[in-house]
Amino acid sequence: MDGNGRWAQSKGRPRIFGHIHGSNKVRTIVKECGKAGIAYLTLFAFSSENWGRPKEEVQKLMGLLCKYLSKELNTLIKENIRFNYIGDVEKLPPSAQDILKETVKKTSANTGLCLTFALSYGSRNEILRATKLIAKDCKDGLLSIDAINEDVYKNYLYTYNLPDPDLIIRTSGESRLSNFLLWQAAYAEIYVSPKYWPEFSKADLKLALQDYSKRKRRFGLIGAQATKPNEAQL
Ligand code: IPE
Ligand code: MG
Repeated sequence: MDGNGRWAQSKGRPRIFGHIHGSNKVRTIVKECGKAGIAYLTLFAFSSENWGRPKEEVQKLMGLLCKYLSKELNTLIKENIRFNYIGDVEKLPPSAQDILKETVKKTSANTGLCLTFALSYGSRNEILRATKLIAKDCKDGLLSIDAINEDVYKNYLYTYNLPDPDLIIRTSGESRLSNFLLWQAAYAEIYVSPKYWPEFSKADLKLALQDYSKRKRRFGLIGAQATKPNEAQL
């Protein structure tokens, strides 16, 4: 979700105005993904690099996160959405950590869309963390070096219980991954929308899904071998 600040500035308003509109947009897009039957939606809400922003902006973003989760809990339950988070959340204020854990707990029995917030998340850091955990298990005799393969490695990532993304949508016209799901995105289709996140609409989501449905995914094979249909999982 990119472009909150530029959207606000283009309207002569402070950046936080963009973040408020951005969090309202989360509500709309989450609902729409649920309706479209998408099984997994992961939103990059706050990166490990975002901690370097001005203190006031960081504080306001944390406040918005808490507000969003406490306001949305009943809707998440009602809409059968299972909430999840990834990232170095121990860096978040304790109040935000409490509400995150509560939201996961209270939605854990839901069977619809799995909604994951990436918070204090950075993929290089995630890969380093996994490597250290693997090294420790090897040192402790719980894992042999020969047993390390892609499936084992995946189990040490924050996303151990999530499938790899099929489609990554980046808003605000930027064509880069910005440290998001680097391991997991190996074969993800990438769609760049020119819209700033606060103006990214249901129609824009539909455009992204339509574009994705036309992609030919070969996963390194030749066309005749790769017959897997494009099931939309964002
Ligand atoms: C995305 O909007 C929201 C967060 C990263 C928290 P930005 O805040 O990155 O907006 P721009 O890129 O400055 O416009
Ligand atoms: Mg940005």
